Amino acid sequence: MTGAGGMLGQEIVSDAQHRGHQVTALGHPEFDIADPVSSGKIMAGDFGEIDLIINCAAFTAVDKAESEPDAAFMTNGLGVGYLAQACAMSGVKLMHFSTDYVFGGDGTKPYTEEDAVNPIGAYGQSKRQGEEAVLSSGAYAWILRTSWLIGPHGKNFLNTMVARKDDDLAIVSDQTGTPTYAPFLAEAAIVLAESSPPPGIFHAAGSEVMTWYDLSMRIHERLPEPKGTRRAISTSEYLTPAKRPAYSALDSSKFSAITGQMPSLARALDHYFQIKP
Ligand SMILES: NC(=O)c1ccc[n+]([C@@H]2O[C@H](COP(=O)([O-])OP(=O)(O)OC[C@H]3O[C@@H](n4cnc5c(N)ncnc54)[C@H](OP(=O)(O)O)[C@@H]3O)[C@@H](O)[C@H]2O)c1
Repeated sequence: MTGAGGMLGQEIVSDAQHRGHQVTALGHPEFDIADPVSSGKIMAGDFGEIDLIINCAAFTAVDKAESEPDAAFMTNGLGVGYLAQACAMSGVKLMHFSTDYVFGGDGTKPYTEEDAVNPIGAYGQSKRQGEEAVLSSGAYAWILRTSWLIGPHGKNFLNTMVARKDDDLAIVSDQTGTPTYAPFLAEAAIVLAESSPPPGIFHAAGSEVMTWYDLSMRIHERLPEPKGTRRAISTSEYLTPAKRPAYSALDSSKFSAITGQMPSLARALDHYFQIKP
């Protein structure tokens, strides 16, 4: 497991261990994906016998990628290529995570795996380069495109909304996507790996389509006595260095036919508030 210290990586490590798998959890200090020496160690057998590598290592700072594109492309593009080639040469299966931001955002219904990509920012472009590197490497690989990850660990929209429950916030209501609860995604990803379907791209996201504002309200309604308010605004009122797709909802039917449909956002919030009361 690479990128084991991140929001999704932590969930995958604990879920895989819980399901009885032996896991080598490699965080950034132990495995720098942008350094070919790290992937060389896979081929040298330094990490022992491996059946599958799950890669969550990524440069995920969407806005920072605009000012530091070299770092984003090194990690999300070239680095992923090193890893995929090492997997191909060692006969190790690969599960790699990608993003809804490979789409341009002019869709009106959830994107399927067959829809054309057209990333509009450096982050999405670097992640698309990583997908291409995996696809051309010859590795037996599943690429899981997920979206709008939320969960108990790390910096994410859910943790931010809860931490700022008493603040008055303006939230964009013209970007639409499919929020995905990291613990549910982790479980489904392990189920997919255990099922070992043919390689390819899979959309792996929650099934409810909504805007950031909708999501903020769903969270707000669950908070006991929040003092703050949420106000809907347009993207033009909340300028960020990176342009985001207006519509990036994913259709995850191909994935859920194998793993079962991910539980609802209501169930995700139940789980979250149980472990973080
Ligand atoms: N978060 C989302 O909303 C979202 C949406 C769609 C897709 N995804 C994709 O889902 C995957 C997991 O995302 P996440 O939210 O769990 O990300 P995250 O919390 O930012 O975790 C990414 C991890 O990668 C590590 N990392 C960064 N550069 C690295 C490098 N050169 N070598 C090795 N490790 C490196 C980071 O470590 P440091 O912090 O120490 O650098 C961090 O632990 C990523 O592929 C991401 O692109 C995420």
